[in-house]
Amino acid sequence: MEKFVYYAPTEIVFGRKTEERTAELVKKYGGSRVLVIYGGQSAVKSGLIGRIEKNLEDAGLAVLSMGGVIPNPVLSTARKMAAAGKEFGADFIVGVGGGSVLDTCKAVAHTLAAPEHDVWDFWSGTKVEKSTPIGAVLTISAAGSETSNSAVITNDDKVPPTKRGINNNFNRCKFAIMNPELTMTLPKYQIGAGAADIFMHTSERYFPAILGNHLTDEMAEGLFRDIIKYGPIGVENPQDYEAMSEIMWCGSVSHVGLTGIGCQGDTPREGDWACHQLGMAISALYGATHGATLTAVWAAWSRYVRNENIGRFAQFARKVYGITTADDAEAAEEGIVKTNEFFRSLGMPLSLTELLGHEPTDEEIRNITEECTYDHTRKIGSFKVLDYDDIMAIYNACR
Ligand code: NZQ
Ligand code: ZN
Repeated sequence: MEKFVYYAPTEIVFGRKTEERTAELVKKYGGSRVLVIYGGQSAVKSGLIGRIEKNLEDAGLAVLSMGGVIPNPVLSTARKMAAAGKEFGADFIVGVGGGSVLDTCKAVAHTLAAPEHDVWDFWSGTKVEKSTPIGAVLTISAAGSETSNSAVITNDDKVPPTKRGINNNFNRCKFAIMNPELTMTLPKYQIGAGAADIFMHTSERYFPAILGNHLTDEMAEGLFRDIIKYGPIGVENPQDYEAMSEIMWCGSVSHVGLTGIGCQGDTPREGDWACHQLGMAISALYGATHGATLTAVWAAWSRYVRNENIGRFAQFARKVYGITTADDAEAAEEGIVKTNEFFRSLGMPLSLTELLGHEPTDEEIRNITEECTYDHTRKIGSFKVLDYDDIMAIYNACR
């Protein structure tokens, strides 16, 4: 087993009606002036925002609510919210939503704690050294931002826009309230994209450069099997409490680091993450739904890199799908086909053409590759390190 650090400080409060404990948890973690951040309209329409505000105010807390976070959240919104939060004197942030809301909360939290900085400073090299505490009320199972150390923001000042992530422990929420019933109003497409993202947060960790922790493999394979079982049930029937519960807990476990333990070594992050980088470039340029960008590229990535360690892909196929084919190369291919079937059962695209609604031109492929390589300045991945030409070849293979 390789050396590792595992840090998962978020208090999880799971189950029906748990949002009624929001004020109690804010107080427990020292909040008194609460900035509530939410997205478009879903949480207002469902009455959730009203209930959270009342819960906080009844407990004697001062509340400022701000909506308007869009999927693939943008810098300009975070800046606006940070300025309002500063004027209000917020000492705690409650995010009601999913990855987009929570990542915006993280951006606002860092800026409130160090107001001499612009929000984007933290996404362009400035180290986060302090932050403002955040609590999550999760309404979509997908990004895992409620337990992760990541935050992803799109800089809408830049032309074309650029989407970047940062990872540090100041990105960890103090608490995450997780009531699966709050996810039952989700459109089927969002449930499918969420389940795909959840699968991918473990897939990224399952194909690292460093291997050797059996327990981690068993946990990862269990998580794969669980999301493969319950994802399509949730898409089919969002009112199925058991399925929505399983999907929700999978989402947090998949991105808390547990399914990548022992795969980090001295690298800054456990896992490979190439598919996420490939996907984020597509979201930056087209605003595409995050989970759908991952399903569009995964098979092409897998076929491009699998010979680095074909046995690993064969193990994935055998342990996750029960494939019994003896030959490793054949088993690996069967596992890739099965995974595409799973993505399809979630209603997700399997190519760029399906994702974007048109076949991308050579120029578009070049533009996405430029964004993915930050204009020729970086390589991605660790299972196989991918340079500009590799990345373009993968995008071409998933046209
Ligand atoms: O804005 P509203 O009206 O709330 O609608 C949202 C949004 O349109 C809707 N929604 C959420 N809960 C709902 C609901 N609709 C009905 N009923 C509900 N209960 O769902 C849509 C998508 O929401 P969003 O927050 O964008 O989804 P998700 O959680 O997938 O977050 C995606 C963002 O997270 C980033 C992605 O890149 C993307 O920007 N990620 C963040 C990560 C992290 N911080 O650890 C890791 C991920 O890999 C990912 O990169
Ligand atoms: Zn993701």
